[in-house]
Amino acid sequence: MVELKTNYLGLELKNPIIAGASDLTANMESIKQIEQAGAAALVIKSLFEEQIQLEAYRFEQQMAVYDEIHAEMISIFPRLEHAGSKEHLNWVKKAKDAVNIPVIASLNAVNPETWIEYAIQLAETGVDALELNFYATPTNMKKSAAEIEQEHVDILKLIKNSVKIPVSVKLSPFYTNPLNFIEQLDTIGVDGFVLFNQFFQPDIDVSKEENIFPFNWSTQKEHRLPLRFVGLLFDKIRGDICASTGIFSGYDVVKMLLAGANTVQVVSALFQKNVSIISTMLEEMEKWMESKGYSSLEDFRGKMSESHNTDPWVYKRAQYVKLLLQGNPVSM
Ligand SMILES: Cc1cc2nc3c(=O)[nH]c(=O)nc-3n(C[C@H](O)[C@H](O)[C@H](O)COP(=O)(O)O)c2cc1C
Repeated sequence: MVELKTNYLGLELKNPIIAGASDLTANMESIKQIEQAGAAALVIKSLFEEQIQLEAYRFEQQMAVYDEIHAEMISIFPRLEHAGSKEHLNWVKKAKDAVNIPVIASLNAVNPETWIEYAIQLAETGVDALELNFYATPTNMKKSAAEIEQEHVDILKLIKNSVKIPVSVKLSPFYTNPLNFIEQLDTIGVDGFVLFNQFFQPDIDVSKEENIFPFNWSTQKEHRLPLRFVGLLFDKIRGDICASTGIFSGYDVVKMLLAGANTVQVVSALFQKNVSIISTMLEEMEKWMESKGYSSLEDFRGKMSESHNTDPWVYKRAQYVKLLLQGNPVSM
């Protein structure tokens, strides 16, 4: 009998598979399915401050329209205000009560003050941990990479001092040197890293000449990018490592563990296949561990990381060096 238990952010998880933040974790029916399929934990869809701001703005506009139509509306609904973060916080509490697996809240805010305010509010819901969804879509040519990184470093420091629950950061791969940024965050004492987020990207329908906003599914081979960074980081940082992007099978989970991850997050696989894919992934992991004679994840975690690999170049190679070293690569 193999044991799939692992530790992540100080939580003891029954296995390494976490359902990542998405619309599936914003819905009561699907969070129950996620738990039933065997996920060890789930991350609630992020509280996005931008969304709250946008909704509040639209709400104000609608109220202003009524204001013009019927002046008396203002006396009928004198202090009508947009609910702000309340709706999201209520959902987080409901989700936490509805399942028996650890629940991780997720946050993306705009200003340092609101990062802190919402982090405290989310921690007060009783969630087991908080994942900070750090991203900056650069739109300002004058802002340097160092400035953006420093803002996130400062926000993390403030949040770590403001909440008692474990805090992880979910990062994008778009840093000049993600390892350096991760080290800075690790020094502050972040409890874990989720590597990496996959961002929504706008597209264009050429026949209608319109913007379209398709869901941004991953493909399986995209897990090679997080795999590289998991392999490079194992044994070099204090925080736990959670691999994310392109994980579709139990064998993909095994790869991440061999590279050194503590856990993985899955999202696209749950949408494209079915939430029940989690139980298949767990079976595949068990089958592989039995075939190798491993009884726990610690028997093989990090075995193929850079620190433990027999080929020290494996995670450094970025080009087809082997081909280039062989006399005439084109004729191959
Ligand atoms: C429909 C959808 C909604 C998502 N919502 C969030 C979110 O609220 N917060 C977040 O940090 N990531 C969100 N993500 C990103 C996923 O959590 C995940 O990082 C990404 O999809 C890569 O993992 P995958 O390859 O398993 O899909 C979302 C992804 C999708 C497809």
